[in-house]
Amino acid sequence: MRWALDEVRREGATVGLVPTMGYLHEGHLSLMAAARADTDFVMATIFVNPLQFAPGEDLASYPRDPDGDRAKAEAADVDLLFSPEHDEMYSDQVLTTVSVGGISQSMEGATRPTHFAGVATVVAKLFAIAGPCRAYFGEKDFQQLAVIRKMVADLSFPVEVIGCPIVREPDGLALSSRNAYLTPDQREAAPVLERALKAGAASVRAGERDPSAVCTLIGEIIAAEPEAELDYVALVDPATLEPPAGILEPGTYRLLTAARFGIPRLLDNIALEVPG
Ligand code: PAF
Repeated sequence: MRWALDEVRREGATVGLVPTMGYLHEGHLSLMAAARADTDFVMATIFVNPLQFAPGEDLASYPRDPDGDRAKAEAADVDLLFSPEHDEMYSDQVLTTVSVGGISQSMEGATRPTHFAGVATVVAKLFAIAGPCRAYFGEKDFQQLAVIRKMVADLSFPVEVIGCPIVREPDGLALSSRNAYLTPDQREAAPVLERALKAGAASVRAGERDPSAVCTLIGEIIAAEPEAELDYVALVDPATLEPPAGILEPGTYRLLTAARFGIPRLLDNIALEVPG
């Protein structure tokens, strides 16, 4: 693999990296398509990273489809599919991890305190393996994207991070490998997340400027859905993930939510424009 990358670089080609945990869906394929359009050599990775799962989470049952993934990556014209075994990525004793403070601690970090250190560590390793590149991540995991951007800036990785828009089902549900766990009733209920976020954004368009009123409205819509167990709703600055100090000033913000539908916790988010 190194040989292939070295050869590509000798020829002056640009590398597009698409890190994934597999069970590829249209969201992943949109990242591969963006990398294909922007760069000369597309490297996708598939590795279900144990470091980002806490004990009791779904590491063992995380959906996997290696043959299907390989076929999809080939159809997406990926040049190199890197699917390492555990031992290729981690030694018996992992003594070095990457942890991004502050931005990692709210929202997902509050529910899953070790999650982002696991993500940052494996992504740092993939960046070290791939070398200078453009790396493509979905905005569905918006906090993950912000954490990776901060890590790249703080540690001076020679990587340009590209965030790609969420891909949704026709009824609005954001694509996620974990949607595979939903029962038919939960699947029918799950688009409430996008519906609620849009209702929050509509309230701002109608003149609401109190961030907590916007979050309360979103939370109430989700909580009214019997299949959903609300975890959080947040309205934040898209770069720092800090909530605004007072009322909403004109600008761009992000509305994020997470809720459990039976076993899976689903995440969603949308941009929020506050007009001047
Ligand atoms: O978003 C994911 O699939 C994973 O968190 C990532 C970025 C591939 C790291 O394991």
